[in-house]
Amino acid sequence: MFAIGIVASVIGVIIALAIDWFPPQASAEAQTVDFLYDVTLVIAVPIFVLVMAVAIYSVVRYRAAPGDLRDAEPVHGNTRLEVVWVLIPFVIVTVLAIYSWIGLESIEAQQPNPIKINVIAQQFAWRFEYPAEGGAPPKQTTNLVLPINRPVEFKLNSEDVIHSFWVPAFRVKSDVVPGIETQIRTTPSREGAWPVVCTELCGIGHSTMRQSARVVGATDFAAWREAGPGAVATARDDQAEGRRLFAGAGCAGCHALADAGAAAATGPPLGGLAQVAPSRAPGVPLEEYVRRSIVDPKNVVVSGYSPEGMPGNYNQQLSPREIDTLVNYLVRASQQTGGRAQ
Ligand code: CUA
Repeated sequence: MFAIGIVASVIGVIIALAIDWFPPQASAEAQTVDFLYDVTLVIAVPIFVLVMAVAIYSVVRYRAAPGDLRDAEPVHGNTRLEVVWVLIPFVIVTVLAIYSWIGLESIEAQQPNPIKINVIAQQFAWRFEYPAEGGAPPKQTTNLVLPINRPVEFKLNSEDVIHSFWVPAFRVKSDVVPGIETQIRTTPSREGAWPVVCTELCGIGHSTMRQSARVVGATDFAAWREAGPGAVATARDDQAEGRRLFAGAGCAGCHALADAGAAAATGPPLGGLAQVAPSRAPGVPLEEYVRRSIVDPKNVVVSGYSPEGMPGNYNQQLSPREIDTLVNYLVRASQQTGGRAQ
């Protein structure tokens, strides 16, 4: 039984280490976290396999024959065995705790010349504030853009409920709690667009609270940083940008829109707005109607729907340019898809 356990453990460890558990390592801290995970696997897999081997062997070997109703002698305990099975887990857990602590200390250590970014969480989008620096004015945006190989300090604040800020490719994560400022340090080490997700159930749009962290070269970052408050890194395609804003600002959490692949039914559907807008807001041009619905939702309520779920501050959350992009996108996407609104 012990030999089987050993062989199965070795196979289990090989399989566990061969599996690609995580997204690419995009920060200097990722290596430390992934190595800790591997160490944990090497310890945990043999224990799991050994326990299962003993359990399965015992079930098979000592099962009762049909009709055999005899009971075994009562067991009164075995002090030596009990000491051993308490001591071994105690040592393992203590060693892992100390090792994790050392890793956490090194990940959270202060780095020289960090860029400090305020992260503001709100149902259901992230907002980022860059302070003035080296001639560039302060900047507020829903696009997280980071220079490669420069340490970042995120200060996390929530405007409503508990959220959790997570960039899986960086391996760092922290709850964002109303009334408490939390903090994360990381150093992006790989260019690309890495998902930013909310990992605390925060309401109906929780699953749509996703944006991305774009890690770019120092020159690209400086250019983006100096551009106007609403500028989006290489704003190439307005339609794509509109679609991204639609998801990033949390619209998809409540509204259906075929072009954006959104099918939620909490808020009014957004297909075919050109057909319904004239009766809802007589004499108001479609663009203006869409704009008011976004920035002043309490005064543009569609009958049958509650305005409660719609954030009232998209005016501050999005830049004027982002609102323009979103309005243009909605007007076009709503017509293109020919979806119907009630
Ligand atoms: Cu914010 Cu989930």
